[in-house]
Amino acid sequence: MDWRTFLAPYAQVVDELKVKLRGMRAQFEYESHHSPIEFVTGRVKPISSIKEKMKRKHIPFEKIETDLQDIAGLRIVCQFVDDIHDIVNRLRSREDFEIMEERDYINHKKESGYRSYHLIIQYPVETIHGLRQIIAEIQIRTLAMNFWATNEHSLNYKYEGQIPEKIQTRLKRAAEAAFRLDEEMAKIKDEIQEAQRIYHTKKHNHT
Ligand code: GTP
Ligand code: MG
Repeated sequence: MDWRTFLAPYAQVVDELKVKLRGMRAQFEYESHHSPIEFVTGRVKPISSIKEKMKRKHIPFEKIETDLQDIAGLRIVCQFVDDIHDIVNRLRSREDFEIMEERDYINHKKESGYRSYHLIIQYPVETIHGLRQIIAEIQIRTLAMNFWATNEHSLNYKYEGQIPEKIQTRLKRAAEAAFRLDEEMAKIKDEIQEAQRIYHTKKHNHT
């Protein structure tokens, strides 16, 4: 079997979940003018990254369906930390997939400084060969966490996973600053949302 055939159901899952999660965002906006979801992205892991991770984690091809859990990846980005918990609760009560694992890298940040909430889910998808259960990873994080993680990811790519110590230290400091930003924003959340509501109302009265 070739990679494209193997990855087809994963691409289907990413597409379906993007529609569903973006649908949540739209619904929040219709009903409350505020969405705990800022934006949603999704991707199928590139073949080169799949191969790299199989090597790094010693995963044989026969086991990647169960052991390589981020082939299908979704990301939900929120304004506030509270929004993350709101979204996680809503995802827990959904009936179109099963949550297999939750990884709380917010209360337990990683050594690098990385913070995010991860859900590993099992998502049933119809294929031309029948129903299949596909494992996918949903990362839920704030804008500040996302800013940090995307920059750290680029540096990891540049230095092929061997970020110089000096830059690692800077990154840890940046992670702390992002954490404080989330904390400060949480304190003025109501003020910010009120401002956004006023702006939204004004914008719509003028058109
Ligand atoms: P890998 O980190 O890819 O080996 O995955 P894992 O199976 O060890 O799971 P883990 O929960 O550690 O990471 C899953 C995903 O979270 C990764 O593929 C990244 O997208 C993200 N992630 C985890 N740790 C970091 C980090 O230190 N920096 C960044 N930028 N992203 C991270
Ligand atoms: Mg890891």
